[in-house]
Amino acid sequence: MSIFYHEEQQEFHLTNGEISYIITVLRNGQLGQLYFGSAIRDREDFSHFLELAPRPMAPCAYEGNLAFSLEHIKQEYPAYGSGDMRNPAFTIVMENGSRISDFIYKGHRIYAGKEGIEALPAIYVEKPDEADTLEIILEDSLAGMELVLSYTIFKEHSAIARNARFICKNPEGILLDRAMSMNVDLPDKEYEMIELTGAWSRERSVKTRKLEHGVQSVYSMRGCSSSNYNPFLALKRPQTMENEGEVYGFSLVYSGNFLAQVEVDTYDVSRIMMGIHPEGFSWRMKDGDSFQTPEAVMVYSEKGLNGMSQTFHKLYRTRLARGAWRDRTCPILVNNWEATYFEFNEEKILKIAETAKKLGIELFVLDDGWFGERDDDTSSLGDWYPDLRKLPEGVSGIAKKIENMGLKFGIWFEPEMTNKNSNLYRAHPDWILSTPGRKASHGRNQYVLDFSKEEVVDYIYKQMEKVLEEAPVSYIKWDMNRCMSEVYSHGYSAGEQGRVMHQYILGVYRLYDRLTKKFPEVLFESCASGGARFDPGMIYYAPQCWTSDDTDAVERLKIQYGTSFVYPIRSMGAHVSAVPNHQTLRNVPLSTRANVACFGTFGYELDLNKLTLEEQSQVKEQIAFMKEYRGVIQYGTFYRLISPFDGDGNITAWMVVSEDQRTALVGYYRILQHVNTGYTRVRLEGLNPDFCYHTSILDRDIYGDELMKAGLFTSDASSGENKEKYNGDNGDYQSRIYILEAVN
Ligand code: DGJ
Repeated sequence: MSIFYHEEQQEFHLTNGEISYIITVLRNGQLGQLYFGSAIRDREDFSHFLELAPRPMAPCAYEGNLAFSLEHIKQEYPAYGSGDMRNPAFTIVMENGSRISDFIYKGHRIYAGKEGIEALPAIYVEKPDEADTLEIILEDSLAGMELVLSYTIFKEHSAIARNARFICKNPEGILLDRAMSMNVDLPDKEYEMIELTGAWSRERSVKTRKLEHGVQSVYSMRGCSSSNYNPFLALKRPQTMENEGEVYGFSLVYSGNFLAQVEVDTYDVSRIMMGIHPEGFSWRMKDGDSFQTPEAVMVYSEKGLNGMSQTFHKLYRTRLARGAWRDRTCPILVNNWEATYFEFNEEKILKIAETAKKLGIELFVLDDGWFGERDDDTSSLGDWYPDLRKLPEGVSGIAKKIENMGLKFGIWFEPEMTNKNSNLYRAHPDWILSTPGRKASHGRNQYVLDFSKEEVVDYIYKQMEKVLEEAPVSYIKWDMNRCMSEVYSHGYSAGEQGRVMHQYILGVYRLYDRLTKKFPEVLFESCASGGARFDPGMIYYAPQCWTSDDTDAVERLKIQYGTSFVYPIRSMGAHVSAVPNHQTLRNVPLSTRANVACFGTFGYELDLNKLTLEEQSQVKEQIAFMKEYRGVIQYGTFYRLISPFDGDGNITAWMVVSEDQRTALVGYYRILQHVNTGYTRVRLEGLNPDFCYHTSILDRDIYGDELMKAGLFTSDASSGENKEKYNGDNGDYQSRIYILEAVN
């Protein structure tokens, strides 16, 4: 891995043998984008990559020269207004109202390793030789601004992490009106854009559309990254599949408002940019201030979508997630939300915990409803002390009893919210985000605390700290159940309101930071009405995230499949819940509920005492299975095999392979049973061709090359004879997990 600087041509080449990224200093001192893609050999001069042909009708920088037009040059971090007519990566506004800028190369720095970003989550390295970083320093002397563009290339990952930092050196100050984290101008438009879209309880559906002229984008203006769109997009060639073909993936390490867009201009150049959503954002900078954008991660794969996802998985699992839990497998948990909702008392909880212990569960999680006087969702958020009607001996009482059973204890918080019916709100009505003179909308009867204010974050921290100090808490589920509206902070002047949404997210990160530092052994799971904040920013603090409030196993196939485009299996909260399912009323067999949930962090979310004895013994087996294989599932290489978004979506298949390739698990799911169907095989991936794998269910020893080339034979015996049970089951919603163990 290296970063080359070719002085004569003023070109930078970042490469690690897998990918290359090439930047040039243009004749006007600004930066041009020469190449991003599969690694190419280094050379002294890449200037032939710069296409400069005369363009008579374009705005040109030099008289007598019709070729140097920013409208036509592929740029690194473009501005609007000096010839480039496309959307800009940033905008500064000078004191005189001018929005024109001219950032000129001033110097650069190349160093081994990677520095963090102040107050923001970012990829890190453990040793300097894991990555090299290039910082390019640009200056706009008239505006009195410096701009530092940072790029880190990793030895082990086909990825580049980047951000932009603005430094104000102007005594009059400056207004930063837009500051994206990245921009890439790719030379053609023959791509399909993949986005992860949805809504509450149907998060991260995979949608693919052909790039067209004009702007196509995904975004959030909800104050959180949202279940509607994820801060991610990919561009793949039309022929790219899961396991072959070219794809670029772009992901933003941020949990607030974002914009990710591709603009295809009428010369067929595709401009991709990603960063904080400019709507409502403006950052007034004084002399000496600096503003650093969140980090964007750009991945390139020639090995299809799985190749892209595997790069994100490994990078995010090993160098974004942190702390004691990064390398530990997830404890198998039971959560009482769908078991009891708000109606519980200590006795009821202890009964569930007792059965959980008997069945092999390791962690009990007490969800919403333990604090204040919260009998429904209309009260008490912000009053983080135990409701003694439900828990007579407080949190510490119940936590100790659960610990004494040999289980760990976890608890739910929703730190960023309050209800009007709460002691917090009665004491501090000005602590919610609300616009003077306007009505404040509620969401789920609650209001958003103004986390852009230090005192609010501090107050919540102290309450949470008290609970954690008094009770043996091993896990926190941090929920967030509404998006923001009427955003305005009473802590900022009129001219500073454009900071509020970003400052809010910085407040969330600050609280996470304080808690994770003070309680390093506590495992955090993030959550936002299910997966409305399933983003890389959260993974930095909480290695797992509740994937969706929809716990129906059939629905979960799509949700988990889509989530796996970016996020590691180890990060996906997935639970077995009761039937009929509470969201869909569907009756999915217990085996399939577990076979879906086990490709995640795995747990149960039902009243275990309501299961029959036979079901309880099935649960015991599921837990034993998970304990044996969770290392492979959570730390192996994941491959999507058959997409629930393709065709009629009846079959989904995925697999995971251990690092040493000796163990693999294949999850095969069929939604509806049909009669007398055709024969089916699934070609597996990632096995060692020379290993012979004992393949469960088929109960045969089969070589890796056979399984990858001829495929795993999945034809259903019941397709001809529906009464005969295939492996003990048939009918709708069936699934199998094939266990492959190398025998040679
Ligand atoms: C939304 C979460 O996604 C659920 O799992 C649960 O914790 C509820 N909130 C509790 O209010």
